[in-house]
Amino acid sequence: MATFIPPNERRRQNPHLPLGDHRQAPFYGIDVLTVSQFNREDLDYIFDIAKEMRAMVERVGTFDLLKGKILANLFYEPSTRTSSSFLAAMERLGGSVIPISGVEYSSVAKGESLPDTIRTLECYADVIVLRHPEVGSAALAAKYARKPIINGGDGIGEHPTQALLDLFTIKEELGKVDGLTVTMLGDLKNGRTVHSLSRLLSLFDVRLNYVSPEILRLPPDLVEELSAKNVSQNVYTTLEPVIPETDVLYVTRVQKERFENLDEYEKVKGAFVITPKTLEKAKDAMIVMHPLPRVGEISLELDADPRAAYFRQMEYGLYVRMALLAMVLGKA
Ligand code: NCD
Repeated sequence: MATFIPPNERRRQNPHLPLGDHRQAPFYGIDVLTVSQFNREDLDYIFDIAKEMRAMVERVGTFDLLKGKILANLFYEPSTRTSSSFLAAMERLGGSVIPISGVEYSSVAKGESLPDTIRTLECYADVIVLRHPEVGSAALAAKYARKPIINGGDGIGEHPTQALLDLFTIKEELGKVDGLTVTMLGDLKNGRTVHSLSRLLSLFDVRLNYVSPEILRLPPDLVEELSAKNVSQNVYTTLEPVIPETDVLYVTRVQKERFENLDEYEKVKGAFVITPKTLEKAKDAMIVMHPLPRVGEISLELDADPRAAYFRQMEYGLYVRMALLAMVLGKA
């Protein structure tokens, strides 16, 4: 009987890239499923490449690093930034994209299982970005796939590429991560970006403040996981006590689609609104971030404040996603 070779290993043995092409590429063929797979050295590597990507985009706009490569963008949940930035990233690298966002128009609507859809797309594409409402869906897809799977958000689980771009934003804007106080505000229970970012920040010497309504607190098992890594964590129901010490205010949307009872949503949806007044006692050198979309939790008046980093954050996302695509395809 043939020995079972795990998909990741099989992928590495796949000779479809010319010899020598990926020997120096440590991330060649890997899945990006959770931030827990990265260490600080990996992050430095990813961010160095992201900076190179930025320089190239500024200099030439589009170049041919991934010419001939195809990305399948498979989105079972709504998305503007994640899907379009992966699309733009692939196109700026000279590759192309199969966009599947209206799954109601694909065979998913006929009842096709996720593994079968993945097995189909990998016949046509070299890498798959998957957004899906179920926790663990990206890991499930990766179990069946020979090609790299990038988790573009699995329900309330993780959103690793968002956390990578969030961390890149912090490093680029504030010049460091160690020693910072990061205040996370909003729907910490259901917000997958917060789940990934807090895990990623646990690799650094940071102080985490959690500000949320009682019912939207960070999941207790995640708090425990971070405690085991000696992260300093503090829970609040109002922002005022922590605003003066905050270096990064990470605001999130209350995730309406995750509520079983919409009355509960109505009770907490307007719990926090960040306005210029909110920042009166904040540091000059702090930044306000948001994965976006915002639905009222940051007032439009704040946009003119130089500390409002959420639009710049989106642009950093393009460079990080370009880096990730180049890396998993063995070109960086
Ligand atoms: C986030 C998401 O999808 O988790 N959006 C994004 O990817 N930028 C945040 C959200 O939807 O609130």
